[in-house]
Amino acid sequence: MTAGPGRLEEPVVRFDRVTKLFERPGEGTFRAVDDLSLEIHAGTRVALLGKTGCGKSTMFNMIAGLLDPTEGTVTVNGRDPFREFDSFRGKLAVVFQNDRLLPWRTAIGNVEIGLEMLGLAPQERHDMAQRWLTQLGLGGHENDYPHALSGGMRQRVSIARAFATNAGLLLCDEPFSALDEITGQRLREEFVSLVREKRKTAVFITHSINEAFQIGDRIVVLKRPARIAYDVKISPDLDAAEKEAIRARILDELSA
Ligand SMILES: Nc1ncnc2c1ncn2[C@@H]1O[C@H](COP(=O)(O)OP(=O)(O)OP(=O)(O)O)[C@@H](O)[C@H]1O
Ligand SMILES: [Mg+2]
Repeated sequence: MTAGPGRLEEPVVRFDRVTKLFERPGEGTFRAVDDLSLEIHAGTRVALLGKTGCGKSTMFNMIAGLLDPTEGTVTVNGRDPFREFDSFRGKLAVVFQNDRLLPWRTAIGNVEIGLEMLGLAPQERHDMAQRWLTQLGLGGHENDYPHALSGGMRQRVSIARAFATNAGLLLCDEPFSALDEITGQRLREEFVSLVREKRKTAVFITHSINEAFQIGDRIVVLKRPARIAYDVKISPDLDAAEKEAIRARILDELSA
């Protein structure tokens, strides 16, 4: 597909009229995502914001190729992440809500996982993992096991693991929600500057309005079952009053 004048470039992520139903024993069919359409373009940081149970993780799992939509299509870089799962190796990196480190591997061993799957030579992946741990302030802890690291450090290892693969698309499901205010704040800033510097596309799930403002250059508010209630660009030149108006509208949508 060519990106000529008047023609928009192919979105990195596209939901086209996606519905996801779950069968619940004894209860029948449950609708988690309802006729949702959404396009996410390269180089943007999209915060998906919604109350608990509105279908955020279900959307995340469909982008990551772990779940198949019931109706409609999800594409990532124009391809089906569920059916062509293997072709996304190294192109998509995920940071989960809890760090999901392997307890029997050291910090550096955990960062190396994705690089092993990409087939990098041992020395090369060791050096790469070391660079990312150092960049995230974990120099000196590379040989520590996860149980010996604090929650914030473990979360940083999982960010290092996601960035080390050099994937263009980062998918994050509330990675900082279990951390204290100050640590969360610092990691959010580091995250945004890394995504900017490396020109990645980020899809960031959150239920915090403040976090959505800190991370996103676009905020998509979801209602339950997942449908778009409000979709807004967060330009860096918004003044305080404009930000306040957006915040008020988001609150409105979330309490509706
Ligand atoms: N495998 C499943 N079987 C049945 N119902 C499911 C399944 N997965 C999710 N659901 C239901 O779908 C709805 C959306 O779940 P989802 O995990 O996507 O919500 P969420 O927005 O990520 O919530 P949270 O903010 O609490 O993480 C919930 O009501 C959940 O119970
Ligand atoms: Mg969730």
